[in-house]
Amino acid sequence: MRKNIVAGNWKMNNDLSQTETLLTSLKKQKQTSNAEVMVAPTFTNLWHAFEALRESNVEVVAQNMHFAENGAYTGEISASMLKSVGVQTVILGHSERRAYFNETDELLAKKVDAALTNSMRIIFCFGEELADRKGNNHENVVASQIKNALFHLDAAAFKNIVLAYEPVWAIGTGETASPEQAQDMHAFIRKTLADKYGNDVAQSVSILYGGSVKPANAKEIFSKPDVDGGLIGGAALKAEDFYAIVNAF
Ligand code: PGA
Repeated sequence: MRKNIVAGNWKMNNDLSQTETLLTSLKKQKQTSNAEVMVAPTFTNLWHAFEALRESNVEVVAQNMHFAENGAYTGEISASMLKSVGVQTVILGHSERRAYFNETDELLAKKVDAALTNSMRIIFCFGEELADRKGNNHENVVASQIKNALFHLDAAAFKNIVLAYEPVWAIGTGETASPEQAQDMHAFIRKTLADKYGNDVAQSVSILYGGSVKPANAKEIFSKPDVDGGLIGGAALKAEDFYAIVNAF
């Protein structure tokens, strides 16, 4: 059966000493839920975080990676480099990567393949912009993001894929999708998966919601049947808030 997951995306925040402070306070938190917990520090702090959280049940994941194994790609990081510092899971397709670094569905399909070839797990992000939602085109946008980057895969690949629906208008804005909007979209995503891969695959994939999740709204969002957890930005930078969300299940 699918798992509940709460993943903290630290984005481009926290230098080494700030990372140490956050890791120290994360280790002091008590988990009372059954959720899988992940944090995604910047590349420069991955190894440090992996070492610090080695004895904990918090998994350290990466925010991005390149599709190539190695070579002349200045400034980029490969799957095998991530694995060599203990990282087994990578976030791909975050809307900030799509918007500011021109990541297209086609590029993301290559990154997905590279991660799976390296036996990594993927948190695959997608979501519509405000204009899509206002134009009632949000389901089409989300379906095409999923199909273009993932539907060349076989069913077995979905054992290593977690989906994260993040409406762009809700990221970092303080405006959250209502629990009903999240549920409706998650049910639509699951149906899209079921139509292609069958119900067993659709029911086994965890679908996270992301976009201004906070301690105050997490419980209601997570109570929806097709919401299996959250990808948390701003609120993941404070250990107490992050664990209030982890424990909202
Ligand atoms: P937010 O970010 O929680 O700050 O809205 C979510 C995300 O970008 O994953």
